[in-house]
Amino acid sequence: MTMGTTVALGVSSSISVYKACEVLRGFQKNGLEVRVLMTLNASRMIAPLLFSALARSKAIVDPIQEESGGSIAHIELAREISLFCVAPATANVIAKFAKGVADDFLSTFYLAVDSPVLIAPAMNEAMFLHPRTQANIRALKAAGVEFVEPEKGYLACREEGWGRLAAPERIVEEGLRLVRRSRSLAGKRVLVTAGPTREYLDPVRFLSNRSSGKMGYALAAEALSRGAEVTLVSGPTALLPPFRAKLVPVETGGEMGAEVAARAPEADVIIMAAAVSDFRFPETAGRKLKKNEFDGRIALVPTPDILEGLGRSRRKEAVLVGFAAETDRLEENALRKLREKNLDIVVANDVKTEGIGFDADENQVVIIDRNGRAVRTERLSKREIGRLILDEVEGVFGRKNR
Ligand code: PMT
Repeated sequence: MTMGTTVALGVSSSISVYKACEVLRGFQKNGLEVRVLMTLNASRMIAPLLFSALARSKAIVDPIQEESGGSIAHIELAREISLFCVAPATANVIAKFAKGVADDFLSTFYLAVDSPVLIAPAMNEAMFLHPRTQANIRALKAAGVEFVEPEKGYLACREEGWGRLAAPERIVEEGLRLVRRSRSLAGKRVLVTAGPTREYLDPVRFLSNRSSGKMGYALAAEALSRGAEVTLVSGPTALLPPFRAKLVPVETGGEMGAEVAARAPEADVIIMAAAVSDFRFPETAGRKLKKNEFDGRIALVPTPDILEGLGRSRRKEAVLVGFAAETDRLEENALRKLREKNLDIVVANDVKTEGIGFDADENQVVIIDRNGRAVRTERLSKREIGRLILDEVEGVFGRKNR
């Protein structure tokens, strides 16, 4: 690991708080600088001085402190770090992060951080398995946070069960993996399309589909977290763009095609997650058409296939990824699209099953490469699906550019 890489280690008030010292030392042994942030309750269980001495920098404890010179400590440090690791994390800290509550230094810091976040929970089994805690963990996973699951064993409450802090070596190993991954696409340009397109009949009526943009936005967020420069060409959605993404809003397939074509020659990775309308009206009227102007039939003409065009004009070293939204013969139809459109990867997306695909928070896909190698995912948040897709993209990119 490069010297000068800094990890922020969040420490909250679990009986296992002493193990945070081993986590700190583990990061240091791998060449990382560590800054410790403690909750007030953690500082009552173990002296901040111990962490300050080990880290060779003052441990930050609540209440919120302002550094001299008027700069805000949490923003300054949040910009510097390559990883925010919270070990141990109590149910309370997890709940605050999940809800965006910012009432102490640690929870405020979480909102300001742009680096990967790793949480190692530690608590009593009943608290860990409580549906509220599990819902909070799911929400954080959907927002891109990663977890080192606690272990089963003898707990401080003198019971056997789930909830014991994972071994410090496991936490350190996972943390190092995330630090490496935070740069795995550094210097690469990633172009993602998302959302639906709208084909207008007149100024108020259009042909569109159920795409919410969530899958494409999750892919953009994941690429950003790996250090890529991300352009997101998006049809109309109700979503906020991920922090640091360059958003290019479009409405029609024609606009999306033009924006993608202008940027494709510079892109190292192109991912077409948008649901582009296959048809449009032959013309768009300049005024709202009257009811009595329809005879019950509306003509449609095909739109150009953006992805197919990219497949014809592509650079060999770039990675081209398409989606295949299918209601039947999922893998067979997806593989056909991969061949016909000259893709490196196709993501086969079942859009018939309730709760995944269009306008859902979760997805379940098959990621297929040119050699027919298929990764069949579980049902996961779109962010986690995005992570698996980008793992495959990086594999293909690495093989092409060896
Ligand atoms: O947005 P969400 O609500 O999160 O939903 C996600 C999603 C279901 C929209 C997404 O996961 C998905 O499957 N996107 C592709 C939808 C689609 O249009 O699939 P298709 O099988 O019709 O098209 C195949 C590929 O060609 C796609 O990559 C599509 O972007 C591209 N295409 C299609 C038509 C067209 N005129 N130009 C294109 O580039």
